[in-house]
Amino acid sequence: MFFGRKKPLDAILATAEKKSLHRTLGAFQLTMLGIGAVIGTGIFVLTAEAAQKAGPGMMISFVIAGLVCAVAALCYAEMAAMVPVSGSAYTYSYAVMGELLAWMVGWALILEYAVAAGAVSVGWSGYVVGLIEHAFAIDIPDTLVLGPFDGGMINLPAMAIAGLVTWLLVLGTKESATVNAVLVAIKVAALCLFIVLAVPVMNMEKFTPFMPLGFGGVSAAAASIFFAYVGFDAVSTAAEETKNPQRNMPIGLIGSLAICTIFYLLVAAGVIGTVGGQPVLGPGGEALEPGSRELAAQCALISDNAVTCSKEALAWTLRQIGWPQIGNLIGLAAGLALPSVILMMMFGQTRIFFVMSRDGLLPQAFSKIHPRYNTPHVITVITGIAVALFAAFFPVGQLANISNSGTLFAFAAVSIAVMILRQTEPTRKRPFRTPALYLTAPIAVAGCAYLFWSLDEKSKLLFFVWAAIGLVVYFLYSRSRSHVGRGIVDVPETDGDVPPGPVPPLPTGL
Ligand code: ALA
Repeated sequence: MFFGRKKPLDAILATAEKKSLHRTLGAFQLTMLGIGAVIGTGIFVLTAEAAQKAGPGMMISFVIAGLVCAVAALCYAEMAAMVPVSGSAYTYSYAVMGELLAWMVGWALILEYAVAAGAVSVGWSGYVVGLIEHAFAIDIPDTLVLGPFDGGMINLPAMAIAGLVTWLLVLGTKESATVNAVLVAIKVAALCLFIVLAVPVMNMEKFTPFMPLGFGGVSAAAASIFFAYVGFDAVSTAAEETKNPQRNMPIGLIGSLAICTIFYLLVAAGVIGTVGGQPVLGPGGEALEPGSRELAAQCALISDNAVTCSKEALAWTLRQIGWPQIGNLIGLAAGLALPSVILMMMFGQTRIFFVMSRDGLLPQAFSKIHPRYNTPHVITVITGIAVALFAAFFPVGQLANISNSGTLFAFAAVSIAVMILRQTEPTRKRPFRTPALYLTAPIAVAGCAYLFWSLDEKSKLLFFVWAAIGLVVYFLYSRSRSHVGRGIVDVPETDGDVPPGPVPPLPTGL
């Protein structure tokens, strides 16, 4: 539409029609799927970062981020139900808004998935290191378990888990539905345990001052904590496998987001009401960025005696209120459950690369399949190396913010695409229609824009630098090689939706 070259929707749908997935998922399964995909580093780790930005006002931040996700999710679901193929936001944009915008969305999704995998790896490291230190009373030098911005040098455990997940993906490991159910149960049980122990002993005085850094702090925390909700798109992309999607899809989306929001609010209240959630300020009373050297230095002065200094906020809180063993148990739960979030993110990344490479926009070598394991090993290893490097050197909050910038861009693009498609193809079959689209979609776009602008300056700058690099790559490499541009509209014989081989399609395989 804006930039010429579009991939015909019919060609995309022809690919999808080759799949005939059974409609088996009901509202309950969808809701569980959403909860499983969403709960991760956001609540386990970023709670401390949100408190550093907003103080107790982070409770409002959780609600704002949840609402933006809810409206974006409703738009996503119309597209996902209509064009049930992989590549999600990238593919939708290709059909509706043309190649250049699709390329930019795909390029932004690299930030969403790969950088998010790095963030979750760092979050995992914080909990596992804390668990080892407390359970075995050993002190691991910060130099080896924290990145340079957090007062260390290199985060080796985060690198190691990224490497391990890469290896599993190359081998074609897939998590069975049972393993997934167990991991969801572990995550939910850990949060319940935390709530049961912390909420009853809350002291309401800890909630004042409620917004020590003003509403700007609340907005900044909402922009970061948005990360805690990322993953719900797994529900939207299951549209094709959903019974009665018009009814069950909104229940699954809104239900899982609502349940996660309630969990998050209770956990946040439990942290603030027990150990307090006031930001650690600089020597002159100034606000300090989470994941900055200045905050690390200030935390060192108070022997890390504030939840906002902790890399394992929930375990730290429980240890402070007299439950050290349960704190360790929470660490164990996070240690067991977070790798599946990394796996999901990295798998998502390889899938996007795969589709972009199949469209000719990225080198064909990226979609090469391993002769023995039958997995897209080249792109998996490249992704793994990038994720391991992010995880080794950058703080979790910074990575989460960068990931959010890409996600917010993609969500806004999809919301716009849904409105355009209603105009250009009004009669096409829509298994799910976004309720009050012309209200919901503009709110989603405005919400994404608001959260984007509330991100820290560094993340925004990085997003634009990344987008500029994307444009250069597109015009120097991809444009001339694009299959659509060269008139090749390929409808792959095999189910081109998934890299061939035992790698499972998201989201049911995770
Ligand atoms: N929502 C996921 C998490 O918080 C990405 O880890």
